[in-house]
Amino acid sequence: MQIIAHRGASGEFPENTLLAIAQAILQGADAIEVDVYAVEGELIVIHDPKLERTTNGSGTIYQHSLAYLQQLDAGEGEPIPTLWQVLELVQGRCWLNIELKGKDTAGPLLTLLARAQSELGLSLNELLVSSFNHHLLLQLKQALPELRLGALTASLQLNYAQYVHDLGMYSVHCDLNFIDQQLVHDAHQLGLKVFVYTVDGLDDISEMQQLGVDGIFTNYPARSRVWAFEGG
Ligand code: G3P
Ligand code: MG
Repeated sequence: MQIIAHRGASGEFPENTLLAIAQAILQGADAIEVDVYAVEGELIVIHDPKLERTTNGSGTIYQHSLAYLQQLDAGEGEPIPTLWQVLELVQGRCWLNIELKGKDTAGPLLTLLARAQSELGLSLNELLVSSFNHHLLLQLKQALPELRLGALTASLQLNYAQYVHDLGMYSVHCDLNFIDQQLVHDAHQLGLKVFVYTVDGLDDISEMQQLGVDGIFTNYPARSRVWAFEGG
């Protein structure tokens, strides 16, 4: 079972910052998950479109210039990183799950990936791009079929994972609150990986192992790794 650091090691460090990501890598995470929006065509890493919860700014990211956003404090003096900075940090160390949150993110992502392939030697199999917005995923599928894509869902559909398979996805990313054996079985039968968010508790980690999921998103990668592999 893969340990995916949710917004970096966000239980201990400011979420979605280079600090939280570097710490997650040090803690032995298999992968890092970050949330992404586009501002002025640049992809920035932050979870909420509203600035108040995670930064010293106010209003929404769309009301401000990129320059203003980049001088904000996203916790412990850390700035809001760009996705490019995250790629530079993570590349070659572990795989990266880019969660597209914002509108108009598919185009800038394709541009950035082409640049990262040529300038950083990035390989697409170090990436998994996911979104709750399945239209964005379809856009990416059509433009770059070899890119691994994951459909995020906050609901248990009547046909289990069939709709995710029909979209040509690599994985389905499900909420801990509804994941069950039938969904895991159906996804695996269809050749899909199953990743579950957000799993921090010891009991939940052992339940996910029993269900045979392929990975968990956790805010505490070090502790979750110990609990997953040494049973607490
Ligand atoms: O990608 C898994 C998880 O991050 C989805 O929900 O709201 O934490 O981005 P959220
Ligand atoms: Mg996320």
